[in-house]
Amino acid sequence: MIEVKGLKKSFKDVEALRGIDFFVPRGEVLGLLGENGAGKTTTLRILATMLKPNSGTAILNGYDILEQPHMVRKNLGILFGGESGLYDRLTARENICYYGELNDMSKEDIEKRIDYLTDILEMGEYIDRRVGKFSKGMKQKVSIARSIVHNPPIMLFDEPTSGLDVSAARVIHRFLDECRQEGKTVIFSSHSMGEVEKLCEKIVIIHKGEVLAYDSIESLKAKHNMDLENLFVEMVGERGE
Ligand SMILES: Nc1ncnc2c1ncn2[C@@H]1O[C@H](COP(=O)(O)OP(=O)(O)O)[C@@H](O)[C@H]1O
Ligand SMILES: [Mg+2]
Repeated sequence: MIEVKGLKKSFKDVEALRGIDFFVPRGEVLGLLGENGAGKTTTLRILATMLKPNSGTAILNGYDILEQPHMVRKNLGILFGGESGLYDRLTARENICYYGELNDMSKEDIEKRIDYLTDILEMGEYIDRRVGKFSKGMKQKVSIARSIVHNPPIMLFDEPTSGLDVSAARVIHRFLDECRQEGKTVIFSSHSMGEVEKLCEKIVIIHKGEVLAYDSIESLKAKHNMDLENLFVEMVGERGE
């Protein structure tokens, strides 16, 4: 489970987070929805212990991000956009394997886990090829596999399908669904309403560092009597530019 308590973060004079609170029970996939600059990546980086908040904290599976960052990281799989950080000259399997070793896994466990992830992420055709010439979608799948090779109970994915084609995005959608069925706790950020509706029950809408909504999609739609996209535009619009 993930409990986020009053997170605030400023970068010089920019108030990126103005007090973020929400809760994700075990086995839930939460969608973090917001426009560019809303504070999604900052929130996830703080949860991943990559960045310290100015105030507030978060508890992940019982571990406080400020007091036990090492234990938090052990329980986490994280995937952030941008640089894939893969080694071009290694094969997909070698890249993933290397991370397994860094996480103190045995060779057998790593191999078993890679077989499973290769299957579920549909990487069979290229798992033993060097990643240098891979497409963006292929690299993204290898990055996902690498980030969760140690089978962590909690996963944080920052815009995992951004820039991918439809079929690569679908594999990732299916994979997130599988994670939920396995009882993983997942937060993924997105600016796609369709994606969020497809994958999660509950969402947090953030805008300019504040939580505008934290509820199930169904109940939000029922309360406002409109679809998610209109609701989002209305909420964000009310706050002005
Ligand atoms: N390292 C940083 N230095 C200065 N400003 C930052 C930094 N990271 C994020 N910001 C600012 O914080 C705000 C939130 O950014 P971010 O969390 O990246 O939003 P999102 O991921 O929702 O697009 C933005 O105004 C952004 O410009
Ligand atoms: Mg971002």
